[in-house]
Amino acid sequence: MTRTARLELDGKTLELPIIEGTEHEMAIDVRELRAKTGYITFDESYANTGSCQSRITFIDGEKGILRYRGVPIEDMAETSTFVEAAYLIIYGKLPTEAEGAAFSERLTRYQNLHEDMKFHFEGFPSSAHPMAILSAMINAASCFIPELTNEEYRPEVFDEQAARLLSQVRTLAAYAYRKSRGLPSVYPRRRYTYSENFLHMMFSMPDEDYEPRPEVVDALDLIFLLHADHEQNCSTATVRMVASSRANLFASAAAGVCALWGPRHGGANQQLIEMLRDICAEGDDGTKFLEKVKRKDGAHQKKLMGFGHRVYKTYDPRARIIKQRCDTLLAKLGRSDPLLDIAKKLEHAALNDPYFIERNLYPNVDFYSGIIMQAIGIPLEMFTVIFAIGRMPGWIANYKEVAEDTNSRIYRPRQVYQGASLAHYVPVANR
Ligand code: CMC
Repeated sequence: MTRTARLELDGKTLELPIIEGTEHEMAIDVRELRAKTGYITFDESYANTGSCQSRITFIDGEKGILRYRGVPIEDMAETSTFVEAAYLIIYGKLPTEAEGAAFSERLTRYQNLHEDMKFHFEGFPSSAHPMAILSAMINAASCFIPELTNEEYRPEVFDEQAARLLSQVRTLAAYAYRKSRGLPSVYPRRRYTYSENFLHMMFSMPDEDYEPRPEVVDALDLIFLLHADHEQNCSTATVRMVASSRANLFASAAAGVCALWGPRHGGANQQLIEMLRDICAEGDDGTKFLEKVKRKDGAHQKKLMGFGHRVYKTYDPRARIIKQRCDTLLAKLGRSDPLLDIAKKLEHAALNDPYFIERNLYPNVDFYSGIIMQAIGIPLEMFTVIFAIGRMPGWIANYKEVAEDTNSRIYRPRQVYQGASLAHYVPVANR
């Protein structure tokens, strides 16, 4: 039986259909609300708004569940790789051996940038943030695919473009880093896996190859895999928004990079390490810092970076996996990190503090990912770039979902106007 919700408005009753998700998430369908009543719903920052129906990723924020196409993140982290996860997220199923091999072959085929792309890198100042370069260069890369701008969505074309984007984002990211350090670009190599290749392009020198340790490659691959999709977060919703105008895949993904950059989203991983370094430099063990956070000092308000989440009201399952891997990785590398000690103290103190308990604030994916990235030698300014590379499969899959839906309309929210009423233009002499 179809369920409905009843809305009493201006003496009339409106029946609104209920939509139920496969995991029994319930939504009130308001699509006809304005046409039938003249009212719109108001939900600034969209905390109660389902903007789409999607089959890609499921999150239960109360229970701390994350699944890619139904497969729990814990299983993926334990047994899969980033490239396999990317296939699963984009195509909706785990690949057979042949499908996996064909997908990897496509990634290898497209790993080199067009040679002319090198000149574009030359124009950036060495102080440019690699996220700015990455976004600009993803868009620039699309200029080298002439059919992209006017091609209607076709599955076989999409497969090639998706592989090109997923493969080249790693090359672009590494080149952006090399540029920022004044180092020569290093070409990708066919024999390397996805993550090995990225490390090679980041750290090899023309006169000496970087030989990555297997545990370092595994840790990077895990970071990519854990970031691969996260349903309608700020950057993915941005990608869908741009895609809804029928902009191309590269333009949509470039917009996703920009949305990810901010410190409330992907930029938090860089800010987290900066926060831990400040705490360390002040000789604090985190106690004084937490007091500052709780005081909420107006303009100088501090946040405990890596804590809190719009959806998770419990421990982020990705943070649990990363925390564990942090300990084993540092032990294997024979290293200790004072920042990890401070992070653990902060976590313990926050999880036992009424301020954080009352607000359901728990560690999110960024709380320990920075420590791992630091341990494997990723420079701080590249942390958010790593997140962007990892999130690419999710952006591609969400783009595909929008592009394949022939009934989808352009995303176009409304607003409640609170500005001046009708005003008249006053000539400058009379103002
Ligand atoms: N430290 C201190 N207080 C916090 C924090 C924090 N990290 N996060 C939220 N709060 C407080 C917030 O001030 C508010 O307090 P009050 O009720 O007194 O006004 C309450 O908790 C609810 O927070 P909110 O800002 O309404 O929550 P939101 O859903 O709008 O924001 C968030 C979510 C992730 C932007 C926010 O928690 C935050 O800024 N966290 C730190 C940045 C961070 O780690 N971002 C990475 C998110 S996970 C990776 C990703 O997907 O991007």
